[in-house]
Amino acid sequence: MGRGSIELRDGIHWVGARDPEMRLFDLIMHTEHGTSYNAYLVRGSKHTALIEMVKQGFEASLLDNIREVMEPREIDFIVCNHTEPDHTGALAALLEAAPRATLVATGRGAHFLGEQQNRELAITKVKAGDSLDLGGRTLSFVPAPFLHWPDSMFTYLEEDHILFSGDVFGAHFCPPPGVITDDAPGIATEALHKATRHYYLTIMAPFAGHLQKGLAKLDGLTLAMLCPSHGPVRRADVQGLVELHRDWATPRSAPLAVVFYASIYGHTKQLAEAVARGLEERGVPTTLLDLESADPWTVLHTSWEADIIAVGSPTLNGGPAPHAAAVLAGLDPHRAKGKRFLAFGSYGWSGEAVSLLTERAAALKMTTIDSPPLRVIFAPTEEDLAQATEAGHRLSDPS
Ligand code: FEO
Repeated sequence: MGRGSIELRDGIHWVGARDPEMRLFDLIMHTEHGTSYNAYLVRGSKHTALIEMVKQGFEASLLDNIREVMEPREIDFIVCNHTEPDHTGALAALLEAAPRATLVATGRGAHFLGEQQNRELAITKVKAGDSLDLGGRTLSFVPAPFLHWPDSMFTYLEEDHILFSGDVFGAHFCPPPGVITDDAPGIATEALHKATRHYYLTIMAPFAGHLQKGLAKLDGLTLAMLCPSHGPVRRADVQGLVELHRDWATPRSAPLAVVFYASIYGHTKQLAEAVARGLEERGVPTTLLDLESADPWTVLHTSWEADIIAVGSPTLNGGPAPHAAAVLAGLDPHRAKGKRFLAFGSYGWSGEAVSLLTERAAALKMTTIDSPPLRVIFAPTEEDLAQATEAGHRLSDPS
């Protein structure tokens, strides 16, 4: 093989690994384009730092790529911007090859690394304002908690104006062999943009408030290149990408709603249409989705993006329909907190689905609209449908 490493600038190389076949990340994210686990060698006149690592199973790529540039044993520092194992899985193999290297991480990062390796490690803990002199090249550290874990930080190479940004500005998008920058021929710009948005929505959006704070820490820094831990190195439109993320992380001024329904004989569907009508009457853009035919990833993403969620389900053997329960199973408290929620449904015997869905939504810290419960025995009457429309009105009201 050979020449897997890519020089970004004199003394700065990408030495990461490509994973073009990856199709499911973190169990929650489908990827059409695989990914890359990015690692970067930065050489100064006195010291060399490896910034970030790769996932377990990709150690050989990392070490081969490093060896194209230098002997791994000469690495002095390994900077861990973020300790999720897709970036630290290769650490044990790397430390065997680079035994004199000192790890650099935030306090939380140091703790997580110790727990992952279950042995004593040489770690320098860094905090805001700390820097590392490599000899003519200075790495300064900018803790940015919850991007994507509490341990996260940015590393800024002052003289070259390069930001090693961890998961921020990343995308699961594996560039073609020999390519790593977004301005290289062969990069499908539109597909990359879509993958970047998808990555933001899946990985970063639950921490949008933290992202706003993290981006504010970059104000005033000159940024010539963004080196994220997944996908292409960004230099085509650096400021545009920063602003795009700032925009994505800013709360929407007007809410979006989705009404999901599972319906066997059409009665819950009638209620769903009436709830959606109520929302639309109050000016809330509303998507109506039949859970029986909707693509599961579309369901997941729509629920993440919506500010208002209604789920309709009949009661099947004492519980909600699996498709309806799956809507809430796809949410977590980080994403769901504060979204307004309504459960509704038609039933024949006992009708537990509505209360069970509402309990689950409350556990997710959603604001539930459940009084009176919107439950109907078999076919809804005109009065039932009017109540469903009224429930849509209440759902639209943030007060
Ligand atoms: Fe790519 Fe949060 O790890």
